Amino acid sequence: MSPNASAPTRRDFLRRSATAVASIPALAAAAPPRMLAAGSERIRVGVIGCGNRGGGAAINCLEADPAVEIVAAADALSDRSAKFGATLAAWAEKNLKPGERRVTVTPETTFIGFDGYRKMLAAVPMDIVIITSSVAFHPIHLEACVRAGKHVFVEKAAAADPVGCRRLIAAGELAKEKKLSVVAGTQRRHDPVYLENRKAVEDGAIGRILSGRVWWCGGNARLEYEKVDGETPGQFMVRNWYQFTELCGDHIIEQHVHNLDVANWFIGRPPQFALGFGGRARRPIGNRYDFFSVDYDYGDDVTVHSMCRQINGCYQRIGEHLVGATGSVWPGGKLNPAGKAAVKPKGGVNPYVQEHVDLIASLRNGRPLSETRGVAEATLTAIMGRLSAYTGQIVRWVDLAENQESPFYNLQLSPTPEDFEKGTVTIPAEGVIPIPGTA
Ligand SMILES: NC(=O)c1ccc[n+]([C@@H]2O[C@H](COP(=O)([O-])OP(=O)(O)OC[C@H]3O[C@@H](n4cnc5c(N)ncnc54)[C@H](O)[C@@H]3O)[C@@H](O)[C@H]2O)c1
Repeated sequence: MSPNASAPTRRDFLRRSATAVASIPALAAAAPPRMLAAGSERIRVGVIGCGNRGGGAAINCLEADPAVEIVAAADALSDRSAKFGATLAAWAEKNLKPGERRVTVTPETTFIGFDGYRKMLAAVPMDIVIITSSVAFHPIHLEACVRAGKHVFVEKAAAADPVGCRRLIAAGELAKEKKLSVVAGTQRRHDPVYLENRKAVEDGAIGRILSGRVWWCGGNARLEYEKVDGETPGQFMVRNWYQFTELCGDHIIEQHVHNLDVANWFIGRPPQFALGFGGRARRPIGNRYDFFSVDYDYGDDVTVHSMCRQINGCYQRIGEHLVGATGSVWPGGKLNPAGKAAVKPKGGVNPYVQEHVDLIASLRNGRPLSETRGVAEATLTAIMGRLSAYTGQIVRWVDLAENQESPFYNLQLSPTPEDFEKGTVTIPAEGVIPIPGTA
């Protein structure tokens, strides 16, 4: 990232914008990515997808650095952006001194609709965009941000299908070319406990990893749709996106991707095969399974068993455990080298804030971060498990990532993200879920 003396400063922009609002789109489109001067300038941040995580991530970013200013927001649904405004106003009321301008989203910098993010990118000068929309939209939202020259924090998972994952990787490669940072919402990679354990494993503390178990067995399954009179099929689906595989990828992708990412990260490669099963026992709405159990084969006799469940009232376990030739590790907890005392690295850092600290540091120190490939590989790993459970077949990594003749390589779920922007969404048939095998 090289300094660009000709890039307009924030102060320049404010001065000009007072008199020349009409020129804002041209100015924003022309501005190259800036390297931030140490601590002195505001870091202007916009948010795409203003739901729970949108509000949470915006606050994490505000907490990460006093120079951060949330300047713009885009959401498909107007009530969500209103709630986002209220969340940030409550944070500002509690945390800012009178006159401190760190939350400056206005009706003019709030954009509603499926194309709102495009309007926001064209109209509002920003340094960083936070993407906290539903999973399936992450590739097109990232692509648009990178093309517009923005640094990005994009939530996990990468996408809902292999086509989307590869599109996210391509956007990440373009970001690298443009010297833009992209940090993904796999916050364990910014947690000092995970980082220290990962380093110890890399340094040979427990020998070669041979096997593992990863879990996201939780509850909180939503049992009813949220409905608003008069909404379009697209608005209904996005309001209830967690219920539809087409938008969330199923919970093995949306949630369990975190634990699968840890397995890939510690082992150092994605798996070669997945063989799994799953089903739906309790969920009355949408088209997702509510449990999966998948065996991942990483080659070289390394295997990881993955379990995830979203059923209320069952035993809950979320985490990872890996066994090496000379010890074992709970990546988010203790390292147990054989014959030596267990060690637990010091924690105490909020990784949700730390990922924004690291993103902002990369803008200041001119060393862009690129986390798209890791999150995309973890997502493809989860998609392999989902496809194996849905089809009853063994699924190979190459068929998602390399073999262009494979139907899995070309799998794109419908409705596609573009259908939402075009308004051509058909809601998937209610209660129809994949059932593998024959009677
Ligand atoms: N890293 C973590 O621990 C963590 C935790 C929770 C959620 N997440 C991720 O954050 C993202 C958002 O989850 P959430 O719980 O906030 O969901 P949410 O439903 O509360 O918020 C999503 C928001 O995005 C908006 N949206 C969706 N598609 C859009 C589009 N095409 N254009 C504009 N707006 C759109 C929705 O209207 C909604 O306001 C997901 O990717 C989810 O997987 C990550």
